[in-house]
Amino acid sequence: MTVNTLILGLQWGDEGKGKIVDALAETSEAVCRFQGGHNAGHTLKVDGEQKVLHLVPSGILHPSVHCVLGNGLVISLPALEKEIVELEQSGINFDGRFYVSGDCSLILPTHIAIDQVRDKSEGIGTTGRGIGPAYEDKVARRAIRFGDLQDWQALQPRLEKLIAYHNKVLVHLYDVDPVPLETVIDELRAHQHLFQKFHCATQTLLRGWVKENKKIIFEGAQGSMLDIDHGTYPYVTSSSTTAGGLSTGLGVGPKHIGSILGITKAYTTRVGEGPFATELFDENAAQLAKIGHEVGATTGRPRRCGWLDLKALETIVFINSVTSLCLTKLDVLDGFKEIKVCTDYDDDGSPIYTTLPGWEQDISGIKEFDALPKSAQDYILFIEDFLESSIDIVSVGPSRDQTIYRN
Ligand code: GDP
Ligand code: IMO
Ligand code: MG
Repeated sequence: MTVNTLILGLQWGDEGKGKIVDALAETSEAVCRFQGGHNAGHTLKVDGEQKVLHLVPSGILHPSVHCVLGNGLVISLPALEKEIVELEQSGINFDGRFYVSGDCSLILPTHIAIDQVRDKSEGIGTTGRGIGPAYEDKVARRAIRFGDLQDWQALQPRLEKLIAYHNKVLVHLYDVDPVPLETVIDELRAHQHLFQKFHCATQTLLRGWVKENKKIIFEGAQGSMLDIDHGTYPYVTSSSTTAGGLSTGLGVGPKHIGSILGITKAYTTRVGEGPFATELFDENAAQLAKIGHEVGATTGRPRRCGWLDLKALETIVFINSVTSLCLTKLDVLDGFKEIKVCTDYDDDGSPIYTTLPGWEQDISGIKEFDALPKSAQDYILFIEDFLESSIDIVSVGPSRDQTIYRN
């Protein structure tokens, strides 16, 4: 039985994946990302200090853990550089333990310009990081990839053609200024050293690690309901955020996944536009947002808040082959007299709720399941029963030690 674990968000992102990956990375040898880009934002709280990660895997704070960005990512070189420099300044070493696949597609300044101008009319509420346009170029087989930085002569004509195409879109379709080709070339040249330093045939590296039985965490970004195929299309991101994305995004086949840990908040949030059946607009929403500090780590936008949607999670648990669950931010429900969970929808698609009693007591210092108030235990057991999957980890605060391990 393989020891590797896939860790995924089951909602619309921001489930607390970063915190859990960081906590579990302590006993792992590598943390590898397989999709998305710097649209992700993970806040880790270690020894009272906060660190926000966007592209770098959430294992980086453990000096002995290797970190990989797989072929399935889209990478902005300035964003990657900025993140590395900031982490290095805080004493984190990247040498010999950070690897970027040569097959990653690059996010160019034109992708960002297109994303931002297009979203004004399309209204998806993207992060404006160029994610969608970069994935479009990948699928259209015209992307510039990280490995292309090896051969400027071959790259130059392809880049010229691509930027001319992007600029046609910007000028003629959206009536905005073009991005000079030189700007794009300068940006790529300025980050050539990242290629020299971190470029790696990560598929081969991973194959070796799997053969050596190294303990690997595969770290999902975003959440399942943002998946390009299984999410709330078109209000989704542009990658496969569900379990299937791991094999394509890292080149590791499904039989090398030992367990699949699905992370859900004890309630629901969403940032950006799109359907959200259990969304609240009352004082409960305000309380969840305030106590849960529900503000986006990447864009600073307020997150929409609502009750837990078990009916939606039931489908998502199946799609991902979730083998166990982690429930985060349970402490945010501390002040509620009653808590609702959606267990079905009526004919109009409106949620049908089951109401459960709250516990109205601070649980943020509790370390064991048995020490939780009875109604908090019952809340956990209710979710577990409904989803037919055991909740092995419960998070009651942002710090590493505010984590209850059950099984
Ligand atoms: P990610 O994108 O899934 O990694 O999640 P984010 O980091 O974007 O959002 C989760 C936020 O909740 C972060 O600010 C975390 O520090 C915080 N957080 C994580 N787990 C808990 C928890 O159990 N309780 C509380 N109160 N905050 C948590
Ligand atoms: P983490 O990893 C929450 C959302 C955006 C928007 C939609 C499409 O921190 O959980 P994009 O820029 O990807 O084209 O935007 O997806 N989105 C996220 N929401 N957490 C994220 O990442 C997200 N990454 C993208 O808000 O609705
Ligand atoms: Mg986040």
